Amino acid sequence: MKNTISLFAAAKKSGEKLTMLTAYDYSFARLVDQSGVDSVLVGDSLGNVILGYEDTVPVTMADMIHHTRAVSRGCAKALVVSDLPFLSYQVSVPQAVENAGRLLKEGRAQAVKLEGGRAVAPQIRAIVDASIPVMGHIGLTPQAINAMGGFKIQGKSEESVKKLLDDALAVEDSGAFAVVIECVPPKVAELVTRKLSIPTIGIGAGPCCDGQILVYHDMVGLFSGFTPKFVRKYAEAGEIIQKAFATYVSEVKNGSFPAPEHAFAGPELELEKLY
Ligand code: KIV
Repeated sequence: MKNTISLFAAAKKSGEKLTMLTAYDYSFARLVDQSGVDSVLVGDSLGNVILGYEDTVPVTMADMIHHTRAVSRGCAKALVVSDLPFLSYQVSVPQAVENAGRLLKEGRAQAVKLEGGRAVAPQIRAIVDASIPVMGHIGLTPQAINAMGGFKIQGKSEESVKKLLDDALAVEDSGAFAVVIECVPPKVAELVTRKLSIPTIGIGAGPCCDGQILVYHDMVGLFSGFTPKFVRKYAEAGEIIQKAFATYVSEVKNGSFPAPEHAFAGPELELEKLY
């Protein structure tokens, strides 16, 4: 049976930690799903790790729907959450509802995530009223890097902590079922987690959140660009894959691949006579 958002409410009550990982295609969605993870996020981080952009700003609704469809087909159990990309929900409330609906209708996601706090509370309320579960995202919000002046840790001043708390409460009051907290000091994330009745999912926010999320490329060594400080590397899959590619190239060059066992058997024909 597929996980639903009820799992998130139950985990907040019981204290069991929630687990989330990203996925962007069918094959990796299957691998992630089979790990027993509670929920899979089709993150707009696909702008960085799949499409090679410097940030998530250029990611479109078409990109998100395309990848969400593939991930949804690969997830038998995990709850599929899909990101609303930059400018797909900020312009107006009706636009936000329509685009959130597309991620469910066309992408077959079960919930959407959007970035921001009080400023997007009306959008969250309207999307939830349309029977679409919403996950919030506060703290460092990568779609806002141009306004934030770069990828900066949030919650470092009293004013910033107050804003974070205000945003968290606005997200909760608007009906979100959970909220991602990105790149804030652990004590600040702990405070927000204590104040909320919905679960917090941390990334670079310490161990006291109700759950954790990572971009899988970072934690298995598939993204060579940059590894954030908050990531633990669980594997160096990039090195293994790179080595396999290089071995293939040299074996084709030296003639050791393909070998006889890689060929199809055929009838004993006198091929020369055919010409
Ligand atoms: O896009 C993404 O992958 C995210 C996570 C980093 C939370 O928003």
